[in-house]
Amino acid sequence: MRILVTGGAGFIGSHTVVELVNAGFEPIIIDNFSNSDRSALEGLRQILNRDVTFYEGDCNDPETLNAIFEKENLGGVIHFAAHKAVGESVAKPLMYYRNNLDSTILLLETMQRYGVSNLVFSSSCTVYGQPEQLPVTEATPRLPAQSPYGNTKTICEDIIRDTVHSGAALKAIALRYFNPIGAHPSGLIGELPLGVPSNLVPFITQTAAGLREKVTVFGNDYDTPDGTCIRDYIHVVDLAKAHVQALRLLDSQSESSYYDIFNVGTGQGNTVLELIKTFEEVNQLKLNYTIGPRRPGDVEKIYAQVDKVNNVMGWRAEQTLADGLRDAWRWEQNLHLKKSTVTG
Ligand code: WQD
Repeated sequence: MRILVTGGAGFIGSHTVVELVNAGFEPIIIDNFSNSDRSALEGLRQILNRDVTFYEGDCNDPETLNAIFEKENLGGVIHFAAHKAVGESVAKPLMYYRNNLDSTILLLETMQRYGVSNLVFSSSCTVYGQPEQLPVTEATPRLPAQSPYGNTKTICEDIIRDTVHSGAALKAIALRYFNPIGAHPSGLIGELPLGVPSNLVPFITQTAAGLREKVTVFGNDYDTPDGTCIRDYIHVVDLAKAHVQALRLLDSQSESSYYDIFNVGTGQGNTVLELIKTFEEVNQLKLNYTIGPRRPGDVEKIYAQVDKVNNVMGWRAEQTLADGLRDAWRWEQNLHLKKSTVTG
């Protein structure tokens, strides 16, 4: 089955392309490199020992989408392409609403026009805000007041749900990711944050690589065992495999209309300091970090209840936090190795 992967040159998209090929699917990538790098395509070619069909383009451009749907005889779509920086979305809400909502609406319209009925949507645990009860289940209410980025995920979920409920021939799954970390074990693809990383793990690996002076832990006065925030860190390869499993679940649906939501996490929470200690142990190095003030908007603790994705979708995380941190460090080291050989 030919699957359009929007944002397929990105962090989670590129890892999902690998798992799609491994599972016998044929991925077709569209990416405009607004938050990814062309080098990911070379990494994919080396891992897969083949080229992957690629279109450089924007999911907000009807002509680009029509040309791809016309030519590629698609069986489904995985929609990753979106702006995803929480802080930036607060500063530029209209850019986020325009890009993230319009691309999803245009994709749904184009899918309907070409009779493509399987959609996996990249959503996020950020839709829960700070949940009252932990672990969060899919029935946990989504909180309206979060970042514009988080709101775009909530609204896109509703747009997809309402389209399915309108009777359109659409089968869709929204995957609510927790915190993706790590990299492909080959070290050939991984996270490539533009500029200064806002996420914890790339900031850690860049600090360990000497690109950053130190990691600042944003607050240690939270109501947690060591005072630092708790998150559910999921290996990006596990997360990629969840998308393959979601496609299989969609394909198995006899109904022409289907919509469901799954939390995709490990079900385990770790504090920031536990993650730093694990990074130091597994990579046998000392990390320079300091405790600083809280970051506004941070959720104190969140981790997933994963019974539904385990039992209904038949997917479960296999990699540990240590695996993710080992792979993230290998990727960071390879990045500099590549640069040094290129610069000579
Ligand atoms: C994790 C923890 C920080 C950096 C966001 C989005 C989510 C998804 C992942 C897109 C927090 C702490 C971080 C640092 C720190 N994005 N931290 N020092 O905020 O949980 O989730 O990114 O899909 O939707 O909401 O991830 O990695 O930024 O932070 O102490 O330099 O690390 O306070 O507790 P977050 P994060």
